[in-house]
Amino acid sequence: MSADTPSAGPPSADTPSAGPPSAEGPPSVEALRARRDAALAGLAAVTDEAGLEAWYRSVLSPSGEATGWKRSIGKVPKEQRKDFGQAIHEATGALELAFAAAREAVSAAALARRLAAERVDLTLPPRPRRRGGLHPLTLARRRIEGIFGAMGFQVYDAPHVELDEYNFQLVNIPPDHPARDMQDTFFFDHPDAPDARVLRTHTTAGQVRAMRELGPGPLRVILPGLCYRNEDITTRSEMQFHQVEGLLVGEGVRMSDLKGVLLEFARQMFGPHQDVRLRGSYFPFTEPSVEVDVRCALCGGSGCRVCKHSGWLEILGAGLVHPTVLRNGGYDPATHQGIAFGMGIERVVMLLHDIDDIRQFFRNDLRFLAHFR
Ligand code: DAH
Repeated sequence: MSADTPSAGPPSADTPSAGPPSAEGPPSVEALRARRDAALAGLAAVTDEAGLEAWYRSVLSPSGEATGWKRSIGKVPKEQRKDFGQAIHEATGALELAFAAAREAVSAAALARRLAAERVDLTLPPRPRRRGGLHPLTLARRRIEGIFGAMGFQVYDAPHVELDEYNFQLVNIPPDHPARDMQDTFFFDHPDAPDARVLRTHTTAGQVRAMRELGPGPLRVILPGLCYRNEDITTRSEMQFHQVEGLLVGEGVRMSDLKGVLLEFARQMFGPHQDVRLRGSYFPFTEPSVEVDVRCALCGGSGCRVCKHSGWLEILGAGLVHPTVLRNGGYDPATHQGIAFGMGIERVVMLLHDIDDIRQFFRNDLRFLAHFR
């Protein structure tokens, strides 16, 4: 392209300073107008932001063609300068106006395209929402808390990381007691250290804490929560499981109170015609001690696979609080007696729903959990 044969097409970004004036001389006013028209035609063909930018760079920017015109005024013979200058002024003004209008048109078109692309159809039906639910153990714990709560038992929270003293010694399990063999656990300190801490093996660990904190008057508490044991994990045993401990202390409390409380619990939990059965047993922290059976909730007592055809299910251990434990809790066994019981929540849920693998509770498998909503 040369000064004498101005291109009629849109200005191209590669040749920003092409066009008049050239070294051969200043352009004529006519040539200038032709260049202006060519630039306007180029602008009219622009449809997007990138095209706008390229056009601006080649025409109106400091290195653009129109800016070049201004610089060429000096080369125009004096008598033509006025006309030439005015023509430049008009041409640049027209280009600037056209550029502003094109910029608005491009951004309006971009907005229109976005609105069309991002249109939301409010008439579409909503996606179904997946609803969560509480864990079966949480549901069972809340039910148990509700039943005992109605009988005046308050919930007492005790630590999971417990002193050996509370977990064992104060509930009548001294250091070399054989009962420790059945409750091996996880140690935070050397087992012989004077303040050794362990992961509690049973909620019984909180009994003396509750008595010391809430005694020495009449007391009714339940202590729900996780317990831990160093056990092989099988369908029947886990290294963590939940228990609910119950403790009632008062004057003249006796075995019939235990039976009454547990019968009431069994009827609320397993059905209105429930029955309970106490069998003699041994626990270090109770004397006498019993194991408590409820009538099999699955067969109603006629005998089935779950109750091994006995008609009864063992659900908890219980007894009269041992005098030593009462004394450790700050009570005088001459005036105060207590009943205590402890049950495994997993066991109760397993019996109620005929679940044969305790590991299901901790697998987070939604196919299992969804059954309990
Ligand atoms: N702590 C016992 C255990 O984990 C359960 C238990 C039995 C708790 C008898 C008691 C009780 O309060 O009186 O096996």
